[in-house]
Formats: sequence, C-alpha cells, structure tokens
Amino acid sequence: MLKIAVLVSGGGTNLQAIIDAIEAGTITNAQIDVVISNNPGVYALERAKNAGIEAMCLSPKEFESREIFNDVLTKTIIDRGIDLVVLAGFLVIIPPQLIKAYKNRIINIHPSLIPSFCGTGFYGLKVHEEALKRGVKVTGATCHFVDEGTDTGPIILQKAVCVEPDDTPKSLQQRVMEQAEWKIMPQAIDLIANDRIEVVDGRVVIK
Ligand code: GAR
Repeated sequence: MLKIAVLVSGGGTNLQAIIDAIEAGTITNAQIDVVISNNPGVYALERAKNAGIEAMCLSPKEFESREIFNDVLTKTIIDRGIDLVVLAGFLVIIPPQLIKAYKNRIINIHPSLIPSFCGTGFYGLKVHEEALKRGVKVTGATCHFVDEGTDTGPIILQKAVCVEPDDTPKSLQQRVMEQAEWKIMPQAIDLIANDRIEVVDGRVVIK
C-alpha cells in the first residue's frame, strides 16, 4: 500500500479529487497518510479533517530559518515512512534534501501543458493570464515528477483543454481544473501505486 503525503497551500480541490478517487476505488493500493499545509487557515486542511486524514501545518514563518523549516519538513516525511509526496497546489520551494531523498517519488500538478507557461513565477492564476495574453487556443495541465529545476522533471501525464473566446483567467482556471487536473493527478497516483511507471533516460514510460 503506497503511503502518500499531500502538500497543499490553498483550497485543496486537487486534494479532494485524490480523496474521492481513493474512496471510489479509481486509485487502488494507496492511502493518504497526512496532509501538510504551509498555511494555517486554508480549506484544504478542512477537507483532510472531513475525510478523517491527519492534517498539519508547517509554516516557514514559524521557524528561525528556511534551513530549519526544510529539515523539519523533510524529517516529517521520512519519519512517517512516506512513499510518495504529492504537491497539490503547494506554493513553497521544495527542500533540496527532500528532492534528493525522494528522486522520482515527488509529483506535482501544473496548470499548463509543460513546457508552455511554466518555470519561475508561473503558478495559479498567473499561468492562465499568460496563456490568454499569448492567445493560445489550447492549454491544459501536466502531472510530472519533481527534480531540482522548476517544472522540469519527467512528465507523467498531460491533458489538453480548449480555450474559449470569452474565457477569463478564472473561467479558464476552473475548466483546466475540472477537465484536466482533477483527472490526471489521481490517474498518475494510481499508475505509481500499481507500479506502472518507470523513468528511463529522464522520460516516463507507462507499462
Ligand atoms: C491548481 O490549479 C494547481 O495546478 C496550481 O495551484 C492550484 C491549486 O488548487 N499549482 C501551481 O500553479 C503550481 N505551479 P487547489 O488548492 O484547489 O488544488
């Protein structure tokens, strides 16, 4: 049984999609051990509690330095025996030591088709604002492994979503979530939990 830690910073709709998929049996061989937020007041923590999942807040602000926060977050994950770290809208830079210890065991959901609209500064609504500004007709979401770069790790799954003529950043964000993020994130977890993913030469092969 794959033991998962879900890291969140906001509303937690992707967390909810994972909880629902485990409950519905579309994710098998996996359980969420803990939900960790960097932000005390977010609704994602409520979602965890409502589902009977342990929820905790580890905020960089509570620690004397970023190094100490990084050590505590990494130790918490290792000590709990976590197999997979899922970044579900987690807007904190991942500790380098965690990335090293969890190579190809941390996944992220990004609200565009990587390599478009990604990298430093591209998160949340900003991604959709830039997509609309550029006038792309198709966007989407990407689920990928996390490496030392920003949005540069091996791509697991992507799903395209059409941009409509009257889209606002908000409406596009909502449609990308509904049609892409909430589908490919649970799907990727199920593939990992059932040992169907291999990374070969920096690329994901689905068995
Ligand atoms: C999601 O749209 C996710 O793709 C994005 O934050 C949102 C979190 O929503 N993540 C990034 O932009 C990471 N670069 P949620 O809290 O409702 O799941």
